[in-house]
Amino acid sequence: PDLSFRFEDLQVKLAAPYQLQPKPEAQDLGFGKFFTDHMLKVHYHQHLGGWQKPEIIPLENLSIHPAAKALHYAIQLFEGMKAYRGIDDKIRLFRPDLNMERMNLSAQRSGLPMFDGAELIKCIARLVQIDQEWVPHSESSTMYIRPTFIGMEPTFGVMAPDSALLFVILSPVSVYYKSDDDSGVSMYADPSVVRAFPGGAGNRKVGSNYGPTIEVTAKAAKLGYHQVLWLFGPDHELTEVGAMNIFMVYVNEQGEKTLATPPLNGLILPGVTRRSVLELASQWEDITVAEEVITMDRVIQLNKSGRLLEMFGAGTAVGISPIGKIGFMEKEIHIPTTKQQQPVFQRVKDTLLAIQYGHVEHPFATVIS
Ligand code: COI
Repeated sequence: PDLSFRFEDLQVKLAAPYQLQPKPEAQDLGFGKFFTDHMLKVHYHQHLGGWQKPEIIPLENLSIHPAAKALHYAIQLFEGMKAYRGIDDKIRLFRPDLNMERMNLSAQRSGLPMFDGAELIKCIARLVQIDQEWVPHSESSTMYIRPTFIGMEPTFGVMAPDSALLFVILSPVSVYYKSDDDSGVSMYADPSVVRAFPGGAGNRKVGSNYGPTIEVTAKAAKLGYHQVLWLFGPDHELTEVGAMNIFMVYVNEQGEKTLATPPLNGLILPGVTRRSVLELASQWEDITVAEEVITMDRVIQLNKSGRLLEMFGAGTAVGISPIGKIGFMEKEIHIPTTKQQQPVFQRVKDTLLAIQYGHVEHPFATVIS
């Protein structure tokens, strides 16, 4: 079979004027509520030689056989990327090659066919160009890009599907969640629930990592917390927070300011924002960067001694999100993240935004339009 579809085979069918939708107002955007006029579709059919020609078409509903494997066994994966309209009015993607790499790893894990990520980036860039009027003209909003890949074969065997559909849809977004609390978001840690486990697929971006988080997230919300802090193991290792990677800033034994995040040990999604934060901060001379195990006990001890300065979440959808409080074992731990003079989370956030919105030229940003 063909090892990949190719951009040069792309077929474009533009929406007719009557199919174009009114664009939402900036204040109504929220997260993932509106979708642009077009989508990208690439079918895979083993009996037709594998990958078919990519197509951009007007956004449409899918027609799926009720036995499709995606619906039964979650043979499915997705990615989260963003397109940013810069101060120069150019549109940029942020490290799309890393999303493609991860998407192929997720595909491999789920028995879905792999493809050439560079070809998909070119198709996505064309899709964004076609719907460029939808890319918000404001630095508080972006265009969220959602590549999705589903197993279509309508049979009940738990095995690699012989047909699949890769599609990409676009959604102009502003904030993922509202926090009216200027001390940062609050986290609920429930040691009885895990997001991922050794040998599992917690390091792959498959929908089945997200569906089963709803119950405990709803419990957290009921208790007044924004997000769930995901712990693992008898020593309550911090792994992720909500749908984000987690970072901590503290003063180490040598008196050095340290930025730490848990290592990629299989329980953690290899976030593009996570990796970028690590790479950018490792060039700063006034901070030590570490990938290390962080236990709840360590958080509590550092906080008691006044050496815990900040905690924050990092992800594509949410960006950089300061954490103000953790609820754990009937206790509340207050983190002084937003009380710092020159917080690291703000520096990280500003550095990323400067790259994404074209305030500085940087190899992480790719101009596509
Ligand atoms: C992202 O940060 O892009 C994510 O994938 C989170 C998503 C589950 C909303």
